[in-house]
Amino acid sequence: MGSRARHLRLVPVVAAASVALAALLGARAGAVEEEHDPLGYVVDRAALDDPATVAEGAELFRIGCVSCHGPGGVGSPRGPAITDAGAASAHFYLTSGRMPHAGAPDEQARRKPPAYTHEEIEDLVAYVASLGEGPEIPDVHLEEGDLQEGGDLFRGNCAACHSATGAGGALSYGQHAPSLDVATPVQIYEAMIIGPGQMPVFSPEAFSEEELNSIVRYVETLQGLGDPGGFSLGRIGPIPEGFVALVIGTGGMMLTVFLIGRRRHGEAEPPSEPVRPADASTGAGR
Ligand code: HEC
Ligand code: HEC
Repeated sequence: MGSRARHLRLVPVVAAASVALAALLGARAGAVEEEHDPLGYVVDRAALDDPATVAEGAELFRIGCVSCHGPGGVGSPRGPAITDAGAASAHFYLTSGRMPHAGAPDEQARRKPPAYTHEEIEDLVAYVASLGEGPEIPDVHLEEGDLQEGGDLFRGNCAACHSATGAGGALSYGQHAPSLDVATPVQIYEAMIIGPGQMPVFSPEAFSEEELNSIVRYVETLQGLGDPGGFSLGRIGPIPEGFVALVIGTGGMMLTVFLIGRRRHGEAEPPSEPVRPADASTGAGR
């Protein structure tokens, strides 16, 4: 009887530990969402049409971009014409630090910390947008996305290059599809409508706005999940998913062992207690 009481005392301890762990992981997932605040990367759309903003951008462009993209963005041997790149492309390439390009013209542009402040990015985006006709910075509405649909579309259209977990992968000619774990919702949407580098364009004809929102929403959940292929769980650090599974699994196993032990105990005692049916019904493993 004494040992049975001890088992019962341990049950809440195990349960509390599991709940605490789950709460910790949940809190970290929340923190990750804040880091990905899409507003942190959205420019003031109204300012993009302001001639003063465009003029500031022209000046920055002359200093940092003309050497490769040519005057007025007409292109040069060192960089493509960007007259019809649009605000979306300029915003994607500048906020993901891909521009200014650091490598040889045929080398893949890498994601880096942005080289410009938010205001400067706004100026440059306004200037590039003023050069011609190109896609605008999209309005992302995660709440309009459907997770199930997003998952299906991601597996069918993105996973071949970025892997099912979004961890990325190698492509031909030394190019690679990057991991999707740091892109903001706006950048994910932009990537689909501009098709950077080797990535195809997923035009509005291919996907409706609602479907694009669904995919963005799905990629956002992948970012919060973590997987054995590379993401860290909720950014706690490089804790392998298996370790957490082990902790939670062990907790559950211990609980089961306690409950089974408790029931066996009841059965072994010859003058069986009148409460036995109820006792047995609480047992796990049935
Ligand atoms: C050292 C040369 C170099 C410099 C400097 C440079 N770029 Fe680029 N840029 C490139 C190359 C090469 C590409 C094509 C690579 C790619 O698409 O991955 C490119 C691509 C782009 C694109 C995408 C084009 C498209 O078709 O959508 C944009 C937009 C862009 N650059 C804007 C800028 C801006 C704005 C600056 C200045 C802040 C800048 N670049 C500075 C070389 C350069
Ligand atoms: C053919 C392979 C391919 C397919 C299919 C593909 N991508 Fe990409 N994706 C790439 C490559 C390559 C890049 C890097 C582009 C560059 O060089 O700048 C990229 C870049 C991205 C980025 C930017 C990541 C960052 O952090 O800067 C996002 C977001 C993205 N892709 C999302 C998607 C989504 C969502 C889909 C499906 C709708 C998709 N991709 C389909 C190859 C692919």
